[in-house]
Amino acid sequence: MNKIRFNHLLGLEGLSSEVITEILDSAEAFLKVLSRPIPRVPSLRGVTVANLFFESSTRTRISFELAEKRLSADVVNFTASSSSMNKGETILDTARNIEAMKVDVVVIRHFAQGSPHFLADRVNAAVINAGDGSHEHPTQALLDIMTIRRKTGDLKGLKVLILGDIAHSRVARSNIYGLLTMGVNVKICGPSTLIPREIESMGIEVTHDLEEGLDWCDVVNVLRIQLERQNEGLIPSLREYQRSFGLTRNHLERVGGEKIIMHPGPMNRGVEIDSDVADGPGSVILSQVTHGVAVRMAVLYLISGREQSIE
Ligand code: CP
Repeated sequence: MNKIRFNHLLGLEGLSSEVITEILDSAEAFLKVLSRPIPRVPSLRGVTVANLFFESSTRTRISFELAEKRLSADVVNFTASSSSMNKGETILDTARNIEAMKVDVVVIRHFAQGSPHFLADRVNAAVINAGDGSHEHPTQALLDIMTIRRKTGDLKGLKVLILGDIAHSRVARSNIYGLLTMGVNVKICGPSTLIPREIESMGIEVTHDLEEGLDWCDVVNVLRIQLERQNEGLIPSLREYQRSFGLTRNHLERVGGEKIIMHPGPMNRGVEIDSDVADGPGSVILSQVTHGVAVRMAVLYLISGREQSIE
């Protein structure tokens, strides 16, 4: 029987270490399911999940759909470009209409911060945030934390450097909340224009020196530099950014030691990370993607309140 239940997963801010641990432990069980010849369990038979994606996605959308199908849920997919939102329908009316078709769980990605919270207050279905603007991306952070825990065995006291555009990153925000809750030390590194002002009040150290950050950490989580930021004057140019903050094999060799290299994707190779680092020793980038399916299975399973055994 599940020890812990939650009605929605809107973010990692305020989520306890017990809930995070329960999700990670359940994800471990689902990872075993995924390695079976027939990687499917009946846990969500009779449960209907709607994936509402108002913003582009490759990994998250496919990963959720795969997780739902591996759990034997009924799945419906919605993309904004082919919907009646083009005819002026609001997000709330869209969600209410989908819910009227007896949907149990809504997975939503939306460019507006707080949209999953808005829906959670107004529909009866369970709501899972698949990324809302630059606010949170909780399942990404959970899969990142699972990947770190599998590599190191223990999270307490580890040192994680988050590198890049922290200010606009929902991945950074969710990672910071989740990692701090799990007793991990977090430092961030990037240009001052991409570091939010409130960060030091959260007890997080900031460095603008990549090699100092690398020397300090066990794990480096490299964030995508959002190419549109160049037009906002927040970075001088991609070349300048790459020179100061792009992760290269030379940087890693200079600081020495073994580092775990992570990236949530999609990657700008040759900008925030070089290919020989992304594909080289220490990289766990594709493991993150594999763990994403297991983590999303765990979240869906726990949120559904089903009590049958995962086995
Ligand atoms: N990591 C991530 O959210 O990737 P997508 O935008 O492809 O879903």
